[in-house]
Amino acid sequence: MPPLIVVPMSKLAIVNSSQLVTLAGPNRPRVGRELRELSIIPHGAVLINDDQIAAVGSHAEIVELIDSDCDVIDAEGRVVLPGFVDAHTHPVFGKNRADEFELRASGATYQQIAGAGGGIKSTVRATRAASNQELASAGERYAHWFLRGGTTTVEAKSGYGLSLEDELRLLRVIKQLDIQTTLRYVPTFLGAHDVPDEYKLRRSAYEELIINEMLPAVANERLAEYCDVFCEEKVFSSDEAWRILSAAKCHGLKLRLHADQLSLSGGAKLAASLGAVTADHLEHTDTDGIAALRSAAVQPVLLPASVHALGLSHYPAAREMIDAGLAVVLATDFNPGSSPTPSMPMVLSLASIYMKMTPAESIVAATINAAYSLGRGDQLGSLEVGKTADVVIYDCADYREVAYFFGVELPWKVFASGGLVYERP
Ligand code: NIG
Ligand code: FE
Repeated sequence: MPPLIVVPMSKLAIVNSSQLVTLAGPNRPRVGRELRELSIIPHGAVLINDDQIAAVGSHAEIVELIDSDCDVIDAEGRVVLPGFVDAHTHPVFGKNRADEFELRASGATYQQIAGAGGGIKSTVRATRAASNQELASAGERYAHWFLRGGTTTVEAKSGYGLSLEDELRLLRVIKQLDIQTTLRYVPTFLGAHDVPDEYKLRRSAYEELIINEMLPAVANERLAEYCDVFCEEKVFSSDEAWRILSAAKCHGLKLRLHADQLSLSGGAKLAASLGAVTADHLEHTDTDGIAALRSAAVQPVLLPASVHALGLSHYPAAREMIDAGLAVVLATDFNPGSSPTPSMPMVLSLASIYMKMTPAESIVAATINAAYSLGRGDQLGSLEVGKTADVVIYDCADYREVAYFFGVELPWKVFASGGLVYERP
């Protein structure tokens, strides 16, 4: 793996863009028509001081502020955007599942493979067998993939350990990756991703383990900000998810939920009744579920890459959600089974093609709205004075090209906290 580049610069100006896509706007997630407002400064420029944005304006305005100790990058007519915030990933696991990919290509379904002991369970076996070092090395490789796609922050779930010791181990590896790589991680505890084999015949004992042992340990060591549950037929029921998430809340964790992914299981309504921050997937959520999310201001996190990768055609009803006033978020769901992609540009492309979100709506969903869904809307997701300097220069002249071209990596230079973390060779 090539080393991650970090060039600390105290003062840096990025000038001569074609479009500086700032996403400046109200201090809250964007809804309805606001999702189309990118606050673009044509031929704009940005001044960075250490890890923060110090000024944003026209090329001429920023050039005025450049002094002799300021490094200058000429964007040469390229587009500049804030770093993507990927608000749903599963980035720590042992061994990929290319073997199951081949089985699916031969006609098997995701559920059939899972029912035969593959799927999440096969990744749990491989993850338990992997050393911390192996998990961290693989995680570093994926961190580099995220960065080169223009992503500077990821939400990262545990969920492939499913024992007290292994879940804590995964969360500690996420913490280590946050320190050792230049990607920023926001940790989520997902001990309720599946019921492990050893608890197959006594699932209530596994629920007790999560509630009585895992959650207190996670909270005590401050290893996660959020708790998530995979609420789905044959995985965790609404009642089980309610008990686990209610307990998580008592430990001060905020809530996210895998909801209505493969069937309508009442996940959206459950997320609303618990006051979850997000409900994720929502491929099968109906109009009632959307209304429930709206009334509780739950942000939907839509994951079109997992629909695509599973060869399905039932995408979430993004237009209905936007029309209902929901602050939609887009994310990759990066994981070894249902969504082996770290690419937000690919997600933007799928959202435009299959969910009829415009490129502008997709960008808002992948930046400022995603930042709010992680409690970081005041720091990340837009190019505004005082925010963290996560800035990406794309090798194109119009922001729509980021979603339009696919299968090509357009990021030219990526900055996280003001430092250069990826540069296209
Ligand atoms: O978000 N839905 C549950 N979890 C993942 C799949 C994980 C896996 O297949 O390993 C998801 O799609
Ligand atoms: Fe997921």
